Amino acid sequence: SREPMIAPSLLSADFARLAEETQRVADADWLHVDVMDAHFVPNLTLGLPVVEAIQAVSPVPLDCHLMIEDPERWAPGYAQVGAHNVTVHAEACTDPRAVARDIRAAGALAGLAIKPGTPLDQYLDVLPDYDTLLVMSVEPGFGGQSFIPDVLAKVRTARELVDTGHLKLLVEIDGGINADTIEQAAEAGVDVFVAGSAVYGADDPAKAIAALRAQAAA
Ligand code: DX5
Ligand code: ZN
Repeated sequence: SREPMIAPSLLSADFARLAEETQRVADADWLHVDVMDAHFVPNLTLGLPVVEAIQAVSPVPLDCHLMIEDPERWAPGYAQVGAHNVTVHAEACTDPRAVARDIRAAGALAGLAIKPGTPLDQYLDVLPDYDTLLVMSVEPGFGGQSFIPDVLAKVRTARELVDTGHLKLLVEIDGGINADTIEQAAEAGVDVFVAGSAVYGADDPAKAIAALRAQAAA
């Protein structure tokens, strides 16, 4: 079976101790970094200079989730500073294919994110240009929200297209993933599990990662 990948979200970490917080999840597969611009979502987090600083100290490859307007303009910069995967929101792109090309040309994997209410069908034709598909299972903007199980239908569709060879990408899920929800997401076919509060809210983040990984693999 697939090897589940766990990507703790730094959004739930202590922003005054970012370097230490990257060390606490050193055994994760990816470190998920939520970039928000107070326009695409009603919250503001951090941007390129801070991501560059995190990249310099993180033992884990960065998975940048850009919840921003005008991703065409900003996304390649995150690849240039060394992010492993750079994900843009489909709803914010005017030409999703061009963005993917620019991210890949700058040296990163390219990811396409869709909000809970955004249909997958509408983007099937651009997905061959992407390496990851991020299915949001909460409305983007904040950590600690409840998982929306309806989005698993989109995960199943994507899984099927990958398993039948029609698409080649990693299926990622983001929002409300914890010990109570990760099994249903795994069953639907997720490859990469983002978890913010479930990892950084735990007394021992390393233990929480191991437990989530074991549950997803079961
Ligand atoms: C929400 C962010 C998520 C968030 C997940 O907009 O994209 O990555 O950090 O946090 P939890 O796992 O607590 O739902
Ligand atoms: Zn995210």
